[in-house]
Amino acid sequence: MATTLDVNGKAYQVKATPETPLLWVLRDELGLTGSKYGCGVGQCGACTVQMDGQPIRSCSTPISVVGAAKITTVESFGGNHPLQVAWVKHDVPQCGYCQSGQLMSAAALLAQNPKPSDDEIAAAMDGNICRCGTYQRIRAAIKEAAG
Ligand code: FES
Repeated sequence: MATTLDVNGKAYQVKATPETPLLWVLRDELGLTGSKYGCGVGQCGACTVQMDGQPIRSCSTPISVVGAAKITTVESFGGNHPLQVAWVKHDVPQCGYCQSGQLMSAAALLAQNPKPSDDEIAAAMDGNICRCGTYQRIRAAIKEAAG
């Protein structure tokens, strides 16, 4: 039985079984490969997308849990999102692998808290790990995007 998912404002009929993690449906069925596979167990944040505006780990979220919720991925940002502009200005990415997840968590933070303090940024971004250690540039870019 096909499942309908709302991704970036579009309704998609997907064939995957209900227990399939959202990450694999996004990447393999919908071709939205911005969300990355890191650990597969909800620990690194590389797979972060938003579900009704909240950051979630798509590697460990079966599509049965998503239901009618609105999924937002980094592809919806289109390249000119204020966070992406700030990311470029601050030259944030190094290898880049974790950055779509970082952006999705940062966007969720700014939607709820448009002027976060350093501590609030640290708390909100705590679950997004960067092996290159770009944390200071991430924080600077979030503050830049916050204006
Ligand atoms: Fe999902 Fe690491 S791949 S949290």
